[in-house]
Amino acid sequence: MSRILTGIQSSGRPHLGNILGAIKPAIDLSKQPGNESFLFIADLHSLTSIKDGDQRRAFIRAVAATWLAFGLDTEKNTFWRQSRVAEHTELCWYLTCFTPFPMLNNATAFKEKSDKNSTVNAGLFVYPVLQAADILLYDAEIIPVGKDQRQHIEMTRDIASSFNHQYNDETFVLPEARVDDRLMTIPGIDGQKMSKSYNNYIDIFLPENELWKVVKKIKSDSTPLEEPKNPDTDITFQLYSLLADEFQITEMRRLYEGGNYGYGTAKKSFYELIVDRFATERERFNYYFHENPDALEAELQAGEEKARAVAKQTIQRVREKLGFN
Ligand code: TRP
Repeated sequence: MSRILTGIQSSGRPHLGNILGAIKPAIDLSKQPGNESFLFIADLHSLTSIKDGDQRRAFIRAVAATWLAFGLDTEKNTFWRQSRVAEHTELCWYLTCFTPFPMLNNATAFKEKSDKNSTVNAGLFVYPVLQAADILLYDAEIIPVGKDQRQHIEMTRDIASSFNHQYNDETFVLPEARVDDRLMTIPGIDGQKMSKSYNNYIDIFLPENELWKVVKKIKSDSTPLEEPKNPDTDITFQLYSLLADEFQITEMRRLYEGGNYGYGTAKKSFYELIVDRFATERERFNYYFHENPDALEAELQAGEEKARAVAKQTIQRVREKLGFN
């Protein structure tokens, strides 16, 4: 039995890039027999950037609805909001006092963020300690993350080791990062990596007319309609290939290369494929996000109960060592 844990950012509505690059692979991993996944919405971390409460609530709900729409099994796994399990913040403080200042000061992610932003809050600085608390609270063994997070997992191991060493005990399990290099980068509508910050993303849960408006904006070159087109350099074709089956891909390639086939038609096919391929997910998203927010809330609260039960045991162990019980 492997205990897998990962934190899900909630600083925006999930888009096609998040879904194909992170959400679907994580759900697939959670389905493997013998795996148990702890997946939480890292809403406390979002406070380092987002201050507006309504915006935060909307993002959290959209993130949660997306994971449920894509079939996360909340019975087998545990799915919750970090902010609703107070032990995250409690353990964060304890661990802060076991974290060498220079280690945080040298964190690459912090350096990058503080170079970029004019105001730097201390939350950004302590961010990796909160992340360590998230992981250690649940005795997690495997942490699937992107390359940029590898250092944070190393820091988690360092903090856990120094705590274990101090009390000459194995209070914390040392986690391991699992960085999957095969995970694909999804191009956005302008051809750069799909990302909220580039504003080039496709939100597959938009109503049909709005979704079509976005798909229509996918960048293409100015090859005239009659001429053959190169599918391998075209963004619409690349995106289409990510969702289509072999047969559909071969067929579209043939159309591109044959000429008299316009980008507009290709975009229409891609749009139709999104609506068709994600029909169930779109429906489930609407159910949780728009029609029945209470069902969504109930799922999260049930997850929070489960998470809390585990977190409480760890905190008990820690308080005992520290003399706080
Ligand atoms: N920092 C992670 C990211 O930016 C999110 C995160 C928060 C996380 N807590 C975590 C990831 C714990 C793994 C484990 O994506």
